[in-house]
Amino acid sequence: MAKYDNSFTDELRQRLSLVDVISRRVPLVKKGQNYWGCCPFHNEKTPSFSVNEEKGFYHCFGCGEHGDIISFTMKSQNVDFKEAIKELADMAGIKMPEIKQKSQAQIEAEENYIKITDDAAKIYQDLLYQDSGKIALEYIKKRGFTDEMIKKYRIGYAPKNNIISARFNNIKPDKLVATGLVRIGNYGPYDFFRDKLMFPICNAHNQIVAFSGRSLDGSEPKYINTTDTELFHKKQTIFGFNFARDAIHKNNRSIVVEGQIDAIQMQTHGFPETVAPLGTALTEDHIAILCKSNRNIIFCFDGDNAGQKAAIRACTLVLPFLRENSDVKFAFVTGGKDPDEILKNQGEAAMKKIIDNATPLIDFLWESVNKNYLVNTPGGRTSAEKYLKDCISKIQDKIFQNEINEEYNSRKFNQWHKWKKQEYKPEVELPDIDIMTVNVVKEIVQTYPEITEKYLDFLTSLNISFENDVKKTDLSLENAEKFIVSLKLQRYIKKLEQEKQEIINESLKNNTSNTDILNEINNKINDANNKLENLLDMNNK
Ligand code: UTP
Ligand code: MN
Repeated sequence: MAKYDNSFTDELRQRLSLVDVISRRVPLVKKGQNYWGCCPFHNEKTPSFSVNEEKGFYHCFGCGEHGDIISFTMKSQNVDFKEAIKELADMAGIKMPEIKQKSQAQIEAEENYIKITDDAAKIYQDLLYQDSGKIALEYIKKRGFTDEMIKKYRIGYAPKNNIISARFNNIKPDKLVATGLVRIGNYGPYDFFRDKLMFPICNAHNQIVAFSGRSLDGSEPKYINTTDTELFHKKQTIFGFNFARDAIHKNNRSIVVEGQIDAIQMQTHGFPETVAPLGTALTEDHIAILCKSNRNIIFCFDGDNAGQKAAIRACTLVLPFLRENSDVKFAFVTGGKDPDEILKNQGEAAMKKIIDNATPLIDFLWESVNKNYLVNTPGGRTSAEKYLKDCISKIQDKIFQNEINEEYNSRKFNQWHKWKKQEYKPEVELPDIDIMTVNVVKEIVQTYPEITEKYLDFLTSLNISFENDVKKTDLSLENAEKFIVSLKLQRYIKKLEQEKQEIINESLKNNTSNTDILNEINNKINDANNKLENLLDMNNK
């Protein structure tokens, strides 16, 4: 019989949640590890139909019906295999492949591939403990890897020479090329990975399908990964998933970090449910894989700008997967570069604190909208609302979607309006220099040469003509100085406000956010305002 490529049915199983598919026809309730409902295949009033999301099958304890996502679709709708696949593909939003049977040749090619990558890993593992691997071994030890970890993750060293092309010279070059380990150049085959610390990348069945190599001499790029092959699709592979799978189920959550070293260190030090995408870009497929077990994900990104961006991307991608009982959070690493550094320098407890303090998605989204749009301007609020609306529309469950909408409506009302009111309440008066002020300045200049000396630049910048026939001031030296300083601060704040307005205008015109610059200016304004307030406070005393 013609068969669909296994990888397609696998993809369906991976993309679709069995519980979601069955829930469309049978109301299910979670009890313990499984979901339960009344069996659609026989008549019953008390639920004996159980669904195991993790294992991907259902079983009825009443009538013995048993199967997976495909057989459920076939039986419940009375359609054949092909139609069931078609329906599921529609549901998952993916195209049906051509019917194709995996040829014997293909099966053999895959077996060859896995054999080559596995043997290559063994060679790399050996070399790490030999002379040529000395620097690599020192390096990885310095990064806090024990021999045990090196063994478990099968870390190795790819030497400077073309070891794979040389050692596998009895294998046809195109078979080596198929694994991405070897390329053909003008002078024949050469190794893709040379002088690299090697991290094998496994599929869910623990087979090595690719490698990630870290440079050891500081050269860029820091990491190179196998480019996509028949058996390795970077966008669909999560580093560490083969090890984390059980823990993700047991701990009922997954943690996603940015780098593979982070993932290994996390898995080793108390967070076995941790994985990392390959390269920084997370994909929908990655999330689909994680959501198969449960929809509780903690994204733990570096505290830098790139981490923020990655988090926003993750947030957008995860929205369609949210269910009312999903728990998706965002943690940011502060006080260190990444989880690896935190674990090494501050230990597990510090890392746990970061994870425990993660921000729920609803709050993260709200905060990032407030940070990235100029919500103190009508235009900025409009853009922010559009963005939020777009995000919320990605949530599939309409009731849940509504609930979140309400939540944000109330936040908009309470926080944005409050903000607006505050905005128009001037905290400190910022007058242009008026004639009275000019006169006081002139008097001070006349009276206190030491002040004039000290603030000469500023005083000159005021463009006042300092004639001689001015009376002396009544202010004490101290208060006179305060007067000048407060004037200086007011001018400074005014200048900042103008700058801020210009940036806002520009942002609105070009639809950019300039958050960093604005934050910086706002901080400066706040600082100056605080100083000014203190100064005026003291004046009143
Ligand atoms: P980072 O630059 O944060 O590196 O990239 P890292 O994980 O902290 O690496 P170490 O600790 O210096 O060894 C995060 C992840 O992005 C991918 C890698 O998967 C890396 O773990 N990456 C990074 C690349 O694929 N290529 C690169 O050149 C850099
Ligand atoms: Mn790192």
